[in-house]
Amino acid sequence: MLFVFVLLGIAAVASAGNFYNDFDITWGDRRAQILNGGQLLTLSLDQQSGSGFVSKNEYLLGRIDMQIKLVGGNSAGTVTAYYLSSQGPTHDEIDFEFLGNLSGNPYILHTNVFTQGKGNREQQFYLWFDPTTAFHTYSLVWNAQRIIFLVDNIPIRVYNNLESIGVPFPNKQPMKIYSSLWNADDWATMGGRVKTDWTKAPFTASFRNFNADTCFRSPSGPLPCSSGNNKGLANGAWQDQSLDAAGRNRIRWVQKKFMVYNYCTDIKRFPQGLPPECKRSRFL
Ligand SMILES: *[C@@H]1O[C@H](CO)[C@@H](O)[C@H](O)[C@H]1NC(C)=O
Repeated sequence: MLFVFVLLGIAAVASAGNFYNDFDITWGDRRAQILNGGQLLTLSLDQQSGSGFVSKNEYLLGRIDMQIKLVGGNSAGTVTAYYLSSQGPTHDEIDFEFLGNLSGNPYILHTNVFTQGKGNREQQFYLWFDPTTAFHTYSLVWNAQRIIFLVDNIPIRVYNNLESIGVPFPNKQPMKIYSSLWNADDWATMGGRVKTDWTKAPFTASFRNFNADTCFRSPSGPLPCSSGNNKGLANGAWQDQSLDAAGRNRIRWVQKKFMVYNYCTDIKRFPQGLPPECKRSRFL
């Protein structure tokens, strides 16, 4: 029995980074494509449909990296969503959503954390680079104490485990990784005032170098936590990762210079008082 588990574990680890092995196309027909022998995945959107994919495995805690190159040119109205989610009415979810814009205008990176079916924890950021001209790495470090959102290894957001004061934390429901490219021109760009220019379709976003250093379940059942992969990136460091002094400096820089919206400072929205996690977290 143990031997079988070890074999399965090795197979899963060795396959990290190949889209054929790790993901299924879920919708959009030919608009979603796995290319270059599994090294590249592209999603596209036209006036008829968007497209999307989902991971074959479920994950519960870990470090998950994906490189994404977003829709270039006039991407107004488009949204590229990349997120982890469990299923059901009390699902947990950890979101990155990239809101497109007119050429030369900045994307917004929208983030959220849902616990037990409830979100309302949005933080939005501009990026310090053009996310459409090259691939950049978007990561989640998700351990028992906190979730850290990283962009090119720079922390932009931390959601702490404050179960001790009654704030739910997503640590019980395994999640799959989802991504989709879709039309959201009713709200995405400048609050919905800028519409998708369909003469520019199809719109395309690209994904590569997926890496998961994590505990996960394959469709055939639970597997132990993996602490290795074929890229030499994994070392299990995510398990007790927090922000060190450099990380705290960087997140301060990001939140000062690039933060567009923070639910934790939106007093108008929470007239009864800000959510409890907002008072406790040093990095909101
Ligand atoms: C789009 O560009 C405008 C003008 O710079 C900016 O106000 C807005 O936040 C940008 N992003 C989105 C998604 O609307």
